[in-house]
Amino acid sequence: MKVAKRTFDAVIVGAGGAGMRAAVTLAESGLKTAVISKVFPTRSHTVAAQGGVSASLGNSEPDHWTWHMYDTVKGSDWLGDQDAIEFMCKQAPQVVVELEHYGMPFDRTDEGKIYQRPFGGHMSNFGEKPVRRACAAADRTGHAMLHALYQRNVRANTQFFVEWLALDLLRGVDGSVLGVIAMELETGEVTVFQAKATLFATGGAGRIYYSSTNAFINTGDGVGMAARAGIPLEDMEFWQFHPTGVAGAGVLITEGVRGEGGILRNASGERFMERYAPNAKDLASRDVVSRAMVTEMNEGRGCGPAKDHVMLDITHLDPKTIMTRLPGIREIAIQFAGVDPIKEPIPVVPTCHYQMGGIPTNYHGQVMAEDGVVPGFYAAGECACASVHGANRLGTNSLLDLLVFGKSSGESMIEQIRKEPAALPEIPQGEIDKTLARLNRLDQQKQGASVHETRLAMQRSMQKHAGVFRFKNLLQEGVEQILAIEKQVQQTEIKDKSQVWNTARMEALELDNLIEVAKATIVSANARTESRGAHVRDDAPDTPEHPDGRDDVNWLKHTLWYRDGNRLSYKPVVMKPLTVEPVALKKRAY
Ligand code: FUM
Repeated sequence: MKVAKRTFDAVIVGAGGAGMRAAVTLAESGLKTAVISKVFPTRSHTVAAQGGVSASLGNSEPDHWTWHMYDTVKGSDWLGDQDAIEFMCKQAPQVVVELEHYGMPFDRTDEGKIYQRPFGGHMSNFGEKPVRRACAAADRTGHAMLHALYQRNVRANTQFFVEWLALDLLRGVDGSVLGVIAMELETGEVTVFQAKATLFATGGAGRIYYSSTNAFINTGDGVGMAARAGIPLEDMEFWQFHPTGVAGAGVLITEGVRGEGGILRNASGERFMERYAPNAKDLASRDVVSRAMVTEMNEGRGCGPAKDHVMLDITHLDPKTIMTRLPGIREIAIQFAGVDPIKEPIPVVPTCHYQMGGIPTNYHGQVMAEDGVVPGFYAAGECACASVHGANRLGTNSLLDLLVFGKSSGESMIEQIRKEPAALPEIPQGEIDKTLARLNRLDQQKQGASVHETRLAMQRSMQKHAGVFRFKNLLQEGVEQILAIEKQVQQTEIKDKSQVWNTARMEALELDNLIEVAKATIVSANARTESRGAHVRDDAPDTPEHPDGRDDVNWLKHTLWYRDGNRLSYKPVVMKPLTVEPVALKKRAY
């Protein structure tokens, strides 16, 4: 089959915050920049981010980037790389102000400064008390951000390929990355996008779980493509469960609700977080709050006939605050929980929200394999692991991550592209043929498994075997189940062979990516025999040497999972920041 080819200086896969921030930098520097997205750019999942983007602007009270850095290292349970964390926290005020200059409609204080609210785990003066660090546009911060970035890209002449699904990464004989092969969803046309530099900014893969705040589009496409191309995946055992998904629906209720004064209550109306985190209370980090909620439910203090949720109460807030600062939340509560939060509390449960691991990068956005930088390949945002979140991300650090590392990736790409010769290298035909064979297999498969049923089996298995609390026997069983489901994925059949829009085909191709993420997660989680951040196992010893099951002697290291042979290796955590003293290891308490 003849495959068309288009050439660019830079190709970006994904039009969420990270991809569009990188594209602004590249296109404004005059480089020919393509952005491939399977949805219209402003429908990318960044649009769903609600509560804010963190930056130590100190608009309402004193703040400092070193406090932000301390909180982020502590939040990560010391698994975050301290060089990258310093880089991110120091850059935060600048990237937020840049965004303001792009036209981002932040809420304002009475003096006209960017409005900031408290968020979980963000404290002043090295952990003293909650600080207002989340820069917010009501409870629609991601929506406002994505529109500002899209408009800036339109101005910069970025070329968007909308409703195109990237299928595979293309690598040269020397291992360098030469671009991607992608399919137009309307026509099924397959095209090679060749470029001097390729960035993956494809977002997360929360859809490996049954209950998720993630959109249906969050299928780990970049992570799956990277794994198939021989790139290892880092720290995939660490998944964040957001404490407040609407019970039964999973829709996100922003932590900004607790930032504005919302309180979690159990069946007897008790503010139970006072027992688990006496200092930060409802604003402890997410892993701590989610575990406290599950413990309340497991011990019979949950709400409702099945005792399977707790309540998020804002009935004590001034309705004006709710209408101005949290209007979207009120709408979500009415639509999805059937309650008006001005009058009644919202039923909530912890729900899969964010992937801390991903494609390994340094803080310049360059992808790192075992033997160093992969030439021509970059990743940013949730699909990447610059390792700023470690074992647990702080809320609002995700929007910051995508701004900082979207920008730094763009800058690194410019530097590389300017050094490249004008002529592009030959793409080995074998690379293209691998993808064509995958498409051909799908189109020819008869009497195969249903995509929908296979995906559901994977989601149910992940929910049961790798949830908020993890158990040795369930993890082992989970590995076996997911490997069995993988065999089924290799024989899925597209039941609806219609070429119009290719939606059935797209779902089958997305499942190829999801299953790589699920495998990496369950295998890495089964192997890590300690508790750290969001990964808490029943069999991790809780002793004075291993507080809360954390084992710094044996497990202060990053996991690398390789698709080839389903194998694991490990690499050290960077404990040395760029310019300041390291944040020393200690027991994490809020
Ligand atoms: O709760 C929230 O608004 C989510 C923010 C985040 O995940 O950073």
